[in-house]
Amino acid sequence: MPIVTSGQIRAFEYRGIFNWSIVNPKRPFRTLPCADFAGHAQGFYVYCCRVASLMGNELVQIRPNGPSSSASGVVVPPPEFRTLPPETVGAGKTFYIETFGCQMNEHDSEKVAGVLLARGYRPADSDDEADFVLYNTCSIREKAAQKVFSRLGAIRKERRSNPPVIGVLGCVAQQEGDQIFERAPWVSLVCGSASYSRLPDMLALLENGGRRVTGLSLDVDECFETELTRRDHPFRAYLTIIEGCDKACSYCVVPMTRGPERSRPSGRILADVRRLSSEGFTEIQLLGQTVNSYRDPSAARLSFAELLLRVAEISGIRRVRFMTSHPSDFTAEIVRAIDAEPVLANHVHLPAQSGSTAVLRRMRRTYSREGYLEKIHCIRSARRAISISTDIIVGFSGETEEDFGETLALLDQVGYDQVFSFKYSPRPKTLALSWADDVPDLEKGRRLTVLQERQREIQLERNRRLVGREFEVLVEGFQHRLGQAVGRTASNRVVNFPGEAAWRGRYITVRVTSAGPNSLVGERVGGRAEAGTALE
Ligand code: 5AD
Ligand code: SF4
Repeated sequence: MPIVTSGQIRAFEYRGIFNWSIVNPKRPFRTLPCADFAGHAQGFYVYCCRVASLMGNELVQIRPNGPSSSASGVVVPPPEFRTLPPETVGAGKTFYIETFGCQMNEHDSEKVAGVLLARGYRPADSDDEADFVLYNTCSIREKAAQKVFSRLGAIRKERRSNPPVIGVLGCVAQQEGDQIFERAPWVSLVCGSASYSRLPDMLALLENGGRRVTGLSLDVDECFETELTRRDHPFRAYLTIIEGCDKACSYCVVPMTRGPERSRPSGRILADVRRLSSEGFTEIQLLGQTVNSYRDPSAARLSFAELLLRVAEISGIRRVRFMTSHPSDFTAEIVRAIDAEPVLANHVHLPAQSGSTAVLRRMRRTYSREGYLEKIHCIRSARRAISISTDIIVGFSGETEEDFGETLALLDQVGYDQVFSFKYSPRPKTLALSWADDVPDLEKGRRLTVLQERQREIQLERNRRLVGREFEVLVEGFQHRLGQAVGRTASNRVVNFPGEAAWRGRYITVRVTSAGPNSLVGERVGGRAEAGTALE
């Protein structure tokens, strides 16, 4: 009978027909029946089991429940287990994941890759050869959702002679569900993000010849925990602290695709950060659709601001960022934390969506223009200069020229350092879908251009004020052709300056020599900056 250490992902091979359980020998009453996986095949059946979150951090055993009857009524003896090396399951198979959309999706893909790596799959450089091609999809706007179906069509053509197993993950998977099999019958796996915890089971089914496997339940109260996460960024580690969204903005599909809000226990988050620090990551970005709605489900009951401070004090961590904040849950306590702790990056992403209270009300944003501006005032009254970025939707249902004018005025009033702006796109199952999409596309385009031009001027002006100032920059890349290092200030501004490839990952003090609307140019000043120095 195999004994596995909790936390491992292990593969077992067995023969026969039986029911079995995962048992914690120290607490035999905590038995998890696994009848779902009762073998029904003749021959060997491989099952991979993720033990950690099921049974807590103790040794557990996999035990058959004794012989059971086959469909024909024949009693079969309990099976022999054989523990397989993890490589066996995916040995020789390769995978490729293409990611669309937000940072949450980027990070989900890192975790999905971790699940595959733990099963012995190897990463492929492209989708040309991979045995298993996964699309992690975005459906926030219609264009993003359409992209997925065009990719599915293209891969089918490109790989006609040796078709891979294809999976659709994420928001389009959740939104379209089984219909994806109808539109693209060559797809084998459709799985929304709320079902990622079940991925090992779904993969086991695919590996055993399953043709159509789905994970579409939104009825979840757990987060996607992985033993292994592939890190695609060398210095910055993303860390989900809250999944799903309980807000109900009338234009937004996210509550339908990512499910209800669920926060991870603070202890687990802090343990993750300690491990990431020991692996050499110096910048942590805490993620959540509404990251500041975080509610610690453990007895520690840390507030979001307390959690920020606890993360910041972990040795080796020099920068802590968080995305995306909802204005209604944005508190003065968060601003005080940023003020008190230089390791907390002096940047807040606070989507306004619109500057008109009438539009905000129809958007069900739960705040007014004045309420939003109060939050901005609170951020601006901090002792540290905190940079602010936002998201804006133009051309929402019923948006008048006056409403749009209020949004333009908001840009001037707040003085954003960056704005992500989008044309309104009606989405399935949202409240606003039933309202007229009455701003013509041409007019949406015009408003978008006007807004972006205005913001460009604001950014240029704000960035020019920084010429002559010094900032600590984390070097993220190097452009060989230009001999330029590219880095970011704590306030999230991009800085280019003459440097060396070997500086990647280092914190260097840079003086700004000139400024454009989207980035700064600078030169290195003296030696290395001290850990966590706040120069802004
Ligand atoms: N149409 C256009 N933009 C949208 N966003 C969310 N839903 C829609 C939609 N239906 C934008 C919001 C959000 C960002 C991630 O995408 O500005 O903050
Ligand atoms: Fe969508 Fe609103 Fe939730 Fe953001 S807060 S994910 S815009 S529903």
